[in-house]
Amino acid sequence: MPKLLIEKNVPGSNAFALPPCDLNMSPLEDSIPSQFLRQDAPRIPELSEVEAVRHYTELSHRAYGVDDGLYPLGSCTMKYNPKINEWAARLPGFAHVHPYQPARTVQGCLQLMSETEKMLCEIAGMDRFTLQPAAGAHGEMTGAMIIKAYHTHHQDHKRTKMLIPDSAHGTNPATTNVVGYKVVELKSNADGLIDLDDLRAKMDDEVAGLMLTNPNTLGLFEKDIDEIAKIVHGGGGLLYYDGANLNAIMGVARPGDMGFDIVHVNLHKTFSTPHGGGGPGSGPVGVKAFLADYLPMPLIKKEGEEYSLDYDRPLSIGRVRSFYGNFGVIVKAYAYILALGSEGIRDACEQAVLNANYLRIKLRDDYHIPFDRLCKHEFVATSRKQMEESHISTLDIAKRLMDYGYHPPTVYFPLIVKEALMVEPTETESRERLDDFIAAMQNIAQESRKTPDIVLSAPHSTVIKRIDEVQAARNPIVRW
Ligand SMILES: Cc1ncc(COP(=O)(O)O)c(C=O)c1O
Repeated sequence: MPKLLIEKNVPGSNAFALPPCDLNMSPLEDSIPSQFLRQDAPRIPELSEVEAVRHYTELSHRAYGVDDGLYPLGSCTMKYNPKINEWAARLPGFAHVHPYQPARTVQGCLQLMSETEKMLCEIAGMDRFTLQPAAGAHGEMTGAMIIKAYHTHHQDHKRTKMLIPDSAHGTNPATTNVVGYKVVELKSNADGLIDLDDLRAKMDDEVAGLMLTNPNTLGLFEKDIDEIAKIVHGGGGLLYYDGANLNAIMGVARPGDMGFDIVHVNLHKTFSTPHGGGGPGSGPVGVKAFLADYLPMPLIKKEGEEYSLDYDRPLSIGRVRSFYGNFGVIVKAYAYILALGSEGIRDACEQAVLNANYLRIKLRDDYHIPFDRLCKHEFVATSRKQMEESHISTLDIAKRLMDYGYHPPTVYFPLIVKEALMVEPTETESRERLDDFIAAMQNIAQESRKTPDIVLSAPHSTVIKRIDEVQAARNPIVRW
């Protein structure tokens, strides 16, 4: 195990060398009442510069990111993002502005946000967007608040339920619940799609709306979306699109054209900000014109050549985040969309879908693929064959993949598939890298048949081997 910084402490070491201060200042202690002065020196590790740098470099080698290799985490879109967009976000004119600056001094930033909003409207088929929400889940919450505000404004107080498919991402029921809706689960049919009869049976005048991901978390396109929209709208509900994975359809199809009234998109998955690591993210929410009055405030307004922040919006659900959203993430999305253009946006989508289908077809002989037909950006395999042959589970396969130098795919999600192994290669992987991954998966399938113990006891190459996952989740030891 590596030592912690505090264990590497060498008293008297110093990571910097400055000349002595020659200003005549009274010591800080003189200005603090004596009862508040600490008696002992803080236990801050003392290390030389080289030791401190080596410590963090060593730690960085233990992490795995998209800069290291393929990161096929289904439903999470861990893709490589152009570094030039990071440069754009760091330009002093963007990075050094202060959110309290008067609007007339940040016209360029407001223009960038306004143009990003317009481009997202075009991509999603919506009329207005707020850029405030800080993540996909935050966007969902904002969307559910807008649905509530809409029904309340129309004196429709009976609508207390939200329909959510059983294949949905966990944030859907969670955010809906936070907003005070009762979640009603919709069943998937044998094809992995929404069961229309179940939807018809559950759609009543207490339903506020339906939250749907299309393609769903099995990577399958809900081909009955027109009928779904008809049923929901016919019953007085609104249709919410979880667009966290917009790379699956962008440039090819638009949620607005499918009948969706509200959508959130994840800039930190689709539009050039890495997902994961706790952020920063951005989950803009778009709506059709009839819902625009409920969007959070402020929105950006343009009169003549002048941009301003519009707070005069009496029906707005209010603020959902401080200031205007994660501005740096918005800058990256702006640069990314402009650089790709409409053709490039479509290409990225088609490449994501092609890559997922390439993997699905290449792996189908070795792994059980429960819905083995054209998928969108991701697909779900399982360990059924390996389980039957050698009692090897999805977890074992995921652990063994680490020995081959890969971050494991998403495991045990979606919940409706037993032993699910959900793979999303993304548009940024080349044919060569996909072939390497296929070879690793095929090797593991072969090992499972011939030398199962090597899979069952994986990983062998990592610092930490098998851990008790339940203990680690329930009783994590996070203190030294
Ligand atoms: C389908 C789907 N919906 C919602 C989310 C939530 O997004 P976030 O992690 O930004 O809250 C995700 C996350 O990856 C997702 O895959």
